Amino acid sequence: MAIAPRMPLPNVAPKSLEQFVSDLTIGLSNPGQKELPSKYLYDEIGSALFDVICLLPEYGLSRAGMRLLRRYSGDIVERLPERVMVAELGSGSGQKTRWVLEALARRQRVSYYPIDISRSALYRCEMELSHMELVSIVGFERAYIEGLREVAARRREGEAMLVLFLGSTIGNFDRPAGDQFLRDVRSVLRAGDALLLATDLEKPVSELLAAYDDAAGVTAAFNKNLLARINRELGGDFDLAHFEHVARWDESERRVEMHLRSTTWQCITIREAGYRFCLREGETIWTESSHKYDPQEVTGMGDRTGYRCHGQWLDTEWPLAQSLFFAA
Ligand code: TRP
Repeated sequence: MAIAPRMPLPNVAPKSLEQFVSDLTIGLSNPGQKELPSKYLYDEIGSALFDVICLLPEYGLSRAGMRLLRRYSGDIVERLPERVMVAELGSGSGQKTRWVLEALARRQRVSYYPIDISRSALYRCEMELSHMELVSIVGFERAYIEGLREVAARRREGEAMLVLFLGSTIGNFDRPAGDQFLRDVRSVLRAGDALLLATDLEKPVSELLAAYDDAAGVTAAFNKNLLARINRELGGDFDLAHFEHVARWDESERRVEMHLRSTTWQCITIREAGYRFCLREGETIWTESSHKYDPQEVTGMGDRTGYRCHGQWLDTEWPLAQSLFFAA
């Protein structure tokens, strides 16, 4: 059964389409484990499905992050320099950011710059937060570091920067790349600027697997939407009925891995990419990893990459850490 119309979406810029094609053919041509970059999970449909994931009883991560910010934003803001502007990497829906902006707005006018590759996420973030008094919002539809550089260029005399990296998105990098990312962020910062970093902590494997393979099948739909997106935008002929969502725990890397497993021997053509490849029965395409940490490990990451930790807040119900770093 063909699931998706074979028509490229008109609102996709040709340049990003080219990039999509090249990322995709590189990942699928891998002689070992085939992979697709996780950033492509977040088109308009993917972003909406992710918002639903955050409501699932099995996925406690975003609620834990929000609880900590609701409870401790006052404490966090107290530790910041006198005048700060706020940049957020991956704004998402903006819900958890509200608590930080509210705490800041009690003492100053706030410029808030969400940075996200997803236009629909930026739009929803602006909708969620635009009513706040004393807060002005300018969204940047950019990759993280590129956007952060542009935001930093807007900094006023005597203003420090607070960078928010919430939702444990750092965990979607493997550990060395996560360190490198923190260094890249540091290279845009000045000494005394702050970074608030959320990291999901290790917990029983059964809970983790349920969080990434929920009973209602929302996470499965989120993962499979990547294939549907390729069908929509690049004229692929993936039959989604011949794939299943798989979440597994890798004990040595301490991460949940998400895969799409082919339930049969099949070949797929992606028309706009001029690309065809085959999958064996049981072979998987790896779409995402979510690394889990312990609290000391997180302070160590900051130490190695040019920061000092000035506070860490832990949620006990769903182990997750918010860590406040200052650029050293
Ligand atoms: N940053 C989120 C996380 O690691 C992203 C996420 C949640 C995700 N569920 C997912 C990514 C399922 C791919 C598949 O928790």
